[in-house]
Amino acid sequence: MQLDIGNALDSVATPGVSTDALDRLDDAVADAHETIAAGMSNARFGYASLNLPETTSAAGIERAVDSIDADAVLTVGIGGSALGAKTITAALGEANHFLLDNVDPEATNRLLDALDFESTAINVVSKSGTTAETLANFLVVRDAYEAAGVDWTERTVVTTGESGPLAELAAEEELPKLAVPDGVPGRFSALSAVGLVAPAILGYDIEAVLDGGREARDSLTESIDDCPAYAYGALAVALERRGVHTNAFMPYAEALEPFAEWFAQLWAESLGKDGQGQTPARALGATDQHSQLQLYRAGRHDTMVTLVRPTARDDREIPAVDVEGLAYLGDATLGDLLDAEFEATEASLAAADKPSIRVELDRVDEHGIGDLLVSFEAACIMAGELMGVETFTQPAVEWGKNAARGLLGGEETAEAAAVRDKREYR
Ligand code: PA5
Repeated sequence: MQLDIGNALDSVATPGVSTDALDRLDDAVADAHETIAAGMSNARFGYASLNLPETTSAAGIERAVDSIDADAVLTVGIGGSALGAKTITAALGEANHFLLDNVDPEATNRLLDALDFESTAINVVSKSGTTAETLANFLVVRDAYEAAGVDWTERTVVTTGESGPLAELAAEEELPKLAVPDGVPGRFSALSAVGLVAPAILGYDIEAVLDGGREARDSLTESIDDCPAYAYGALAVALERRGVHTNAFMPYAEALEPFAEWFAQLWAESLGKDGQGQTPARALGATDQHSQLQLYRAGRHDTMVTLVRPTARDDREIPAVDVEGLAYLGDATLGDLLDAEFEATEASLAAADKPSIRVELDRVDEHGIGDLLVSFEAACIMAGELMGVETFTQPAVEWGKNAARGLLGGEETAEAAAVRDKREYR
């Protein structure tokens, strides 16, 4: 991953970061890098995520799914247990990876009505093994396969912790079961079985995804001058301190649209703490140039835009046509047009004094997505260190999960009691 921070500096943007401030930031980054590196070598909770490119066995995952013969995969999971897998397969252009994360019955009915059960594997993922949405969806999916006379046990892989209701269900049916590695929070687990089972079933080169992750991990050095991942995290924090409370993440590649969703989870759930944290906004270039860009350019001075693109991609020529005013298109490709749109957005933001950061990767392929995932995880961990927040916990998310379970008649929880109290005052 390469970074261009020129449009986030105070010569271009208001609020931007001065070169003096960058030097001070570099010292803080060096200290934080020491903490991160020590956390990685001791495999401490959260920091261990950055070791996944080394500790995940692609061969182990491939062995576990070897008996599954499928053309499509239905992933049942939510949040960190779903977005990594979706991000990876979408980056690789896969159309046959379906996701059941939400529990909207209408959407579920539509999806199950359209699914070819015979050729679709079920990939159930829950680190805790207790998440109500995932467990409910799994029971619904099993039932739908049974109703169609298709043996779901032959097509199901479970990734979960050592114990819990999902582990019990897997043991009961003797399903292949993979572990969520120790010390890795859900949203940092894309480069483990959590994110790699689906692409492995679909035949992608998951070792190449890990390779990309290794390259990102090996590029973590103590200075923002040589470490794009840390530079991104540090710049985002410096901008937030200057009032940049929104981070609009705008890839110029359809295949990276789910990456923006994954980024939004990572940034919000990891850094939204102690009254701090940028609000991530999801955008897609060039589509959202025709809508959201108006706000990012001419709205409040509280937004940075992260512009992401591959430097190489498959392309398509625009056919020439003999119409006045369209000649310029005839000499171009769709890729040329997309690049021109990218540069126009960047320049338009700079002209309005709005900060942006340019992120480039060589190609959106297995290696590229592995690199991006680990680079942004490292960026987020660096940001968390500089902000002094607990990057790897998510108490507000757990609050909602505990409340939902209690309200549905599971074990009584303080959170469910709080919701009932609130209902009484309505
Ligand atoms: O990042 C997180 O911790 C969350 O988004 C979880 O991944 C999500 O709540 C799902 O949890 P689980 O994997 O326990 O089902």
